[in-house]
Amino acid sequence: MCGIIGCVGRGDATLDTLLGGLANLEYRGYDSAGVALANESVTVEKKAGELDALREAVAGQTLHGSVGIGHTRWSTHGPPTDANAHPHQDCTGDVAVVHNGIIENYQSLRDELAEAGHTFASDTDTEVVPHLIEDALADGADPEDAVRQALSRIEGSYAVAVVVAGVDAVFAAREDSPLVLGVSDGAYYLASDVPAFREHTDRVVYLEDGEFARIDADGFSVSSIDGTPHDVTIDTVDWDPEDTGKSGYDHFMLKEIHEQPRALRQCLQGRVDELGASVSLDLDVDIARVQFVACGTSYHAALYGAGLFRAAGIPAQAFYAHEYALDTPPIEDDLVVGVSQSGETADTLSALREARRRGARTLAVTNVVGSTMSRECDDTLYIRSGPEIGVAASKTFSAQLAALNLLALQTVGAGDEDLREVIAALRDLPGDVQAILDSTTAEEVAEEYVDSDGFFFIGRGANYPVALEGALKLKEISYEHAEGFAAGELKHGTLALVTADTPVFAVVTGNDEAARKTIGNVKEVEARDAPVVAVTDGKSDVARYADHVLEIPETHPRTAAVLANIQLQLVAYHVANALGRSIDKPRNLAKSVTVE
Ligand code: G6P
Repeated sequence: MCGIIGCVGRGDATLDTLLGGLANLEYRGYDSAGVALANESVTVEKKAGELDALREAVAGQTLHGSVGIGHTRWSTHGPPTDANAHPHQDCTGDVAVVHNGIIENYQSLRDELAEAGHTFASDTDTEVVPHLIEDALADGADPEDAVRQALSRIEGSYAVAVVVAGVDAVFAAREDSPLVLGVSDGAYYLASDVPAFREHTDRVVYLEDGEFARIDADGFSVSSIDGTPHDVTIDTVDWDPEDTGKSGYDHFMLKEIHEQPRALRQCLQGRVDELGASVSLDLDVDIARVQFVACGTSYHAALYGAGLFRAAGIPAQAFYAHEYALDTPPIEDDLVVGVSQSGETADTLSALREARRRGARTLAVTNVVGSTMSRECDDTLYIRSGPEIGVAASKTFSAQLAALNLLALQTVGAGDEDLREVIAALRDLPGDVQAILDSTTAEEVAEEYVDSDGFFFIGRGANYPVALEGALKLKEISYEHAEGFAAGELKHGTLALVTADTPVFAVVTGNDEAARKTIGNVKEVEARDAPVVAVTDGKSDVARYADHVLEIPETHPRTAAVLANIQLQLVAYHVANALGRSIDKPRNLAKSVTVE
């Protein structure tokens, strides 16, 4: 999704700081990029396509200015063209604005401004903002007031950053879209996400909705949009700039897949006591009933989480957040849990807000400290994965599954299962994941089936979300057609698509009824000549019916799902790699989707 960077106090390094910041935001997904530098005048350069196109465009030029803003755009209003890229300017060229989010009343503002003689150069909603600022300046407002006046006319969601000719400052504000301020000696930053400026400082101020910030060479100030000063806290981020590098791996995703033992260790650290068979989260919630809301990969984690609560006798259901917000189920004494890596997904935020409006207590299960979700919910459980740069979630999914286990164990216990055994299995997870990473044959499987017509994934119970996630991962990064099913459902229609050219990945762990029935489904597809890849812990005899086996270590039934998913992540990665896809930045996708 769109990324913002702004800085003051970087002197001659201003342009490089902006371009470096945009490079660090690339992972969010974008289709055009631009920068504006300001001194006595404002210079803008912007280009459709990758950041390299912008780098080339600025290479031959002298862009001067000691303050600047930059943007990576993920199209919402208008296609990804040079004209639609940000920053956008007013008629005089003295104002430049970058914006994330959606201005809902832009059409009426645009009509009004056009009527008054303003000319527009793009199809975007954003472009009304510089023209509104231009009008306020023409009416005699000072630059800061002019920005405030423009913002007061906007409805919708935004994070904006603005520069004005002749003013050595960047103005910014947020409403429903993340914005964070970076503080270092003599230099200040504004960005949609900390990685944009982490190499320059670890001291940050997370801005709240409705806050306005000014950064200039003398420091920074935060206030409400209408100017009431706000006190803020400066936080220190707890990860290093190297955590957002590739560390020798070809792709961020592969690095993040390999970081899973560490991510799981961090998630569990200090939270499980094996000897005492207890879990202690820094969280004080009672759960009588629970509803989960989430999107994408996080929805699959939510499905898994709901299963854990049901196993302990607690009514629990997972909902797509976008559906929940429209068609909210009855809320009794339910805790409503938002599961979101970024903590910024607009659909999930809407669902949680609706739940709160109806009186529910809310909990965020997220990776990002200071994210909107963590600040709006009554409580937060951090999954502690460290920053994830690859657009397709990998380590954060595993950590979500581990964190949801901890949540269930602390609040409602393990049902009929032996708590001590579950805790021991969780403790073993990092080592078990490492064992898979060290011995996997996923690359061979990927090479064998890379040219297939399509891919199916089946699983039952806790392995059903794994099947869904296996298919989603493959789709996201390889662009191949893949579908995940509850194993029993495949025969109710989709079996018509199963052929010798559609491998079926069957996740079969343990040797219980679910495993036996899934093996029945494996036989059904085998009878239609489909190649079968079994992901299994070897407890059942599924291997007998499989063309390939991806093994996972023996573990508890709950943690088997976490391990099985690792093999499917690796299959997706290697298929995508063999096809030469843009693994870390898949086409059309964004890491954090901040529009509904
Ligand atoms: C986007 C990403 C997905 C992600 C989903 C939910 O669509 O491309 O990979 O699963 O958002 O993101 P969240 O940050 O809420 O987990």
